[in-house]
Amino acid sequence: MSTRLLTGRDGIAEAAALLLRGETVAIPTETVYGLACILDDQAVDRVFEAKGRPRDNPLIVHIARPEDLADIARDIPSCAAELTQRFWPGPLTLVLPKASGIPDSVTAGLDTVAVRCPGHDTARAVIRASAPLAAPSANRSGTPSPTTAAHVMEDMNGRIAAVLDAGPCAVGLESTVLDVSCAVPRLLRPGGVTLEQLESVLGHVEVDKAVLAGLAATETPHAPGMKYKHYAPQTPLVLLSGPAEAARNYVHVRPDCGILCLQEEAAAFSGLHTAVYTPESLFAALRQLDEKGYSCVYVRLPKAEGLNLAVVNRLRKAAGYVEVVL
Ligand code: TXA
Ligand code: MG
Repeated sequence: MSTRLLTGRDGIAEAAALLLRGETVAIPTETVYGLACILDDQAVDRVFEAKGRPRDNPLIVHIARPEDLADIARDIPSCAAELTQRFWPGPLTLVLPKASGIPDSVTAGLDTVAVRCPGHDTARAVIRASAPLAAPSANRSGTPSPTTAAHVMEDMNGRIAAVLDAGPCAVGLESTVLDVSCAVPRLLRPGGVTLEQLESVLGHVEVDKAVLAGLAATETPHAPGMKYKHYAPQTPLVLLSGPAEAARNYVHVRPDCGILCLQEEAAAFSGLHTAVYTPESLFAALRQLDEKGYSCVYVRLPKAEGLNLAVVNRLRKAAGYVEVVL
């Protein structure tokens, strides 16, 4: 299969036509590029196949208008209505009891469904011109999510029908996943809408243990995706915590290694193999590291608050929770 690169208005129409035929098309969203398909068993199967994704990891359904939620989910609690009013369209995914008619292939057999209304005009235009779309991030399973069409091509060229290119994604991290099917809303994945923003609407939010810690092999995760390796470049990542001065000395004597840090620490690591990231550029930075041929990259984490809770979650997972504490 040769993967077509689509752009502009004609690209939106072409993407919609391909999707309605059951093909897979990568589309831009404000968070990351998604690998979209209609809610049909065969089309969903193609998405799992192209990503190499384990079949027990359910997909997010994307809708064009907040009011379309009633077609996808049922028993919608009043807190969900408040959240959609405040944060949709935008980077918030809600887990709710699923409506009849949502295929088991989309939800991996769960009786809940994850839904979001993306805050990207092109994404909503494609959905309006086709149908509600199931879309996981458009990377091969396990690799960093794509924030440009070029990243999608790196992973998916020849495996999917087309990529609709609308430039880089503004948020650069996936949506926040919040389970509102339980008595107390539970944060399953931090993302573009922060915990603090959710708490300003909901009061108390339960933060799932898996947001910051690894799960033991015997534990059942609340979001099936939590148990899989994620966001990882080929180069091994190791978290490096402690004072910047000590971290500098540690990396200095390991000249075949790189260090990945925030701009505010860049000066402390000058003269070393330093790469700088922001929340928006984190996934691009992880992909670029592999071009350098380092034997290992040490990662400096920010404080886990605001959008940086999502950054810490992704980096801890990407490093497989391996950490050197100085
Ligand atoms: O920003 C995003 O959310 C992007 C863009 C494309 O919309 N999509 C995305 O999808 O990140 P994906 O498949 O890479 O991540 C979806 C996460 C997975 O961890 C999955 O296990 C969880 O959402 N999930 C999906 N349905 C669920 C459900 N019914 N209950 C609990 N977790 C669910
Ligand atoms: Mg993903």
